[in-house]
Amino acid sequence: MKSLASKSGCLTCHSIESGAPGPNGMAPIGPAWQDVAKMYQASRVLMSS
Ligand code: HEC
Repeated sequence: MKSLASKSGCLTCHSIESGAPGPNGMAPIGPAWQDVAKMYQASRVLMSS
């Protein structure tokens, strides 16, 4: 998964862990995937209530 993501260029804009810098040491452009996962977990709770 990690190697697929870096081969596809996803890690140019994303980091996996929130708060981690992007590959070039700058802040990542896209949201960290851990934050994306948290967001979807929260929306699932909202939708099921
Ligand atoms: C050019 C930069 C760039 C690349 C390359 C890129 N992303 Fe993103 N990605 C973004 C940005 C910016 C957002 C935030 C979009 C938004 O919130 O509307 C995002 C959002 C996402 C999200 C969250 C979507 C959501 O519903 O909020 C996922 C998952 C994601 N990207 C996965 C990937 C994957 C997997 C790849 C590689 C195949 C990839 N990204 C490549 C910039 C990029």
